[in-house]
Amino acid sequence: MKAVLEKNKIERETILEKLNWRYAVKKFDPAKKISESDWEILEDALDLAPSSMGLQAYKFIVVTDQETKEKLKPAAYGQTQITDASHVVVFAYKKTLTDADIDQYIERVAKVREQTRESLEAFENSLKSAVSQAIEGGYIETWNSRQPYIALGMLLETAALMDIDATPMEGFDAAKVNEILGLNDYSAVAICALGYRDVENDWLASLPKVRMPKDELIQRI
Ligand SMILES: Cc1cc2nc3c(=O)[nH]c(=O)nc-3n(C[C@H](O)[C@H](O)[C@H](O)COP(=O)(O)O)c2cc1C
Repeated sequence: MKAVLEKNKIERETILEKLNWRYAVKKFDPAKKISESDWEILEDALDLAPSSMGLQAYKFIVVTDQETKEKLKPAAYGQTQITDASHVVVFAYKKTLTDADIDQYIERVAKVREQTRESLEAFENSLKSAVSQAIEGGYIETWNSRQPYIALGMLLETAALMDIDATPMEGFDAAKVNEILGLNDYSAVAICALGYRDVENDWLASLPKVRMPKDELIQRI
């Protein structure tokens, strides 16, 4: 439900404080777990991420099972965040799209917005044409594999606002991760480990952020 957020307004200073507080944690405290109620909010952040044409051609595999984390760790070149973090999310994009996927999506739009299928015909046709162009042009995987990064960004920001630590990760062998998780139609493109930092044992915890000079990074016209 869309709402005008008058109450619970987040102070501007708080946002920047939290974004400066977050960093890509190298060492999580394995004893600290994210509560179920907090985790639900983080899952909602994933769900609420925008995606190209609203298709959500991806899925998020949430791993809390320690045995599975142990299997994933070598596929992520031994990075300890995988086994120490409370939750690990694997972002997997759908390798291709079919008319059936689009039909399913259109059905959902019709149902949620109480519209007829007929009234959505132009939208359906534009979707089908965009998808078939992407398949014929050989860029469907490029297109689909970019989408989960938007959800990754939203997850990182939401976690920071909730004082939850997170590490975005691309340092892993996707083929191995796909095999461990039994992914066929989908392929892992990014991982996010979430939990709580182990300040004393994380070499990065006390180091300042390194960023480009803002005027080089941002061009204002
Ligand atoms: C797409 C992506 C992949 C990354 N992969 C890894 C990784 O595999 N392991 C890791 O420790 N950090 C990883 N990082 C963290 C970056 O090194 C880090 O975000 C960057 O140095 C900026 O620092 P900060 O996030 O601490 O501010 C990744 C970040 C992004 C956005």
